[in-house]
Amino acid sequence: MKKAYIKGVGFYMPEKILTNKDLEKMVDTSDEWITSRSGIKERHIAAPQETTSTLGARAAKLAIENAHLKPKDIDLIITATISPDMVFPCTAALIADILDIRHAGVFDLEAACSGFIYGLSLANQYIKTGEYKNVLVVGSETLSRITDWQDRSTCVLFGEGAGAAVVSESHTESEIMATCLGGDGVYRDLLYMPAGGSLYPATEETVKKRMHYIKMEGNATFKVAVTKLSEASLNVLKKANLKKSDVDLLIPHQANIRIIKMVQKNLDLPDDKVLVNIHKYGNTSAATVPIALAEAVQEHKIKRGDILVFAAFGGGMTWASAAVKW
Ligand code: ACO
Repeated sequence: MKKAYIKGVGFYMPEKILTNKDLEKMVDTSDEWITSRSGIKERHIAAPQETTSTLGARAAKLAIENAHLKPKDIDLIITATISPDMVFPCTAALIADILDIRHAGVFDLEAACSGFIYGLSLANQYIKTGEYKNVLVVGSETLSRITDWQDRSTCVLFGEGAGAAVVSESHTESEIMATCLGGDGVYRDLLYMPAGGSLYPATEETVKKRMHYIKMEGNATFKVAVTKLSEASLNVLKKANLKKSDVDLLIPHQANIRIIKMVQKNLDLPDDKVLVNIHKYGNTSAATVPIALAEAVQEHKIKRGDILVFAAFGGGMTWASAAVKW
């Protein structure tokens, strides 16, 4: 078996910033409520002409450059998203077109906020078996397009952006050591978008009932999230033969600072070993982990040989984790 590693990363945040103060003018909420309940201060919102594929392509271009590769070197593009440009064709095909990649395999992966780590796990397998040389994994979201801006319990939480990673064969100690994937549809009604699929195709009624927007049971989601994020992190450490004290940096899904703090406690990690950027970006679903990773690399917070743990959970519910030697 070959070994795979993350060869390059990139991220892109749209220019426009929507602050909690801005939201106070849109729904019955306050900066104090949003900050104390979620840790979010502001989030980025895509311009009208921007879409999930254009954000994803910008992050992907940087990841390919940082991997010292050319677009023609990419063999497969996996895009993780719950806000694709369209139901089909897949967003990965649109990203390939923007980047002028004409020969690669392309598909989208829908595992909500866990999608990027699911993609990383797949990329790892393709590289390890020798099937492909360079796999591009993109997490990209334009969640404002499926957010109900009249629902204060959800609209204050989400943001937009994209992150990407190129996974390639490793000839050094750097490697994706282990990944763990999980999910349980019993939780499907906690976090979902009811209409637009085969169950409720778009009709006048689905639009009137606001069924094309994200619905969430915040409290119940919170509890599953803490349990599953902690379990997923511990399981991947075990699989990679690592101890909690080996972790140099935990990059958790950025959904709520209180969830992150509880997982941090369960893993016995000090503050400086847990990456938090939720205050700046909010919850960008499949994009939170690759954005946080790429930003940490850009800011030199990660050095060669560091042990990183990625962990995420999302609608489904799904959960996923990865242990990576940088
Ligand atoms: N501003 C002011 N008040 C609000 C707001 C708001 N934006 N939203 C809700 N409230 C009110 C509620 O109406 C409620 O009022 P009531 O007590 O009079 O009924 C009160 O605040 C408390 O609401 P709770 O839902 O109990 O608040 P909670 O402390 O649980 O925090 C939150 C809510 C932030 C949503 C939290 O439950 C959470 O983060 N849950 C998990 C979210 C998550 O992780 N999602 C998964 C990832 S997303 C994905 O996969 C796409």
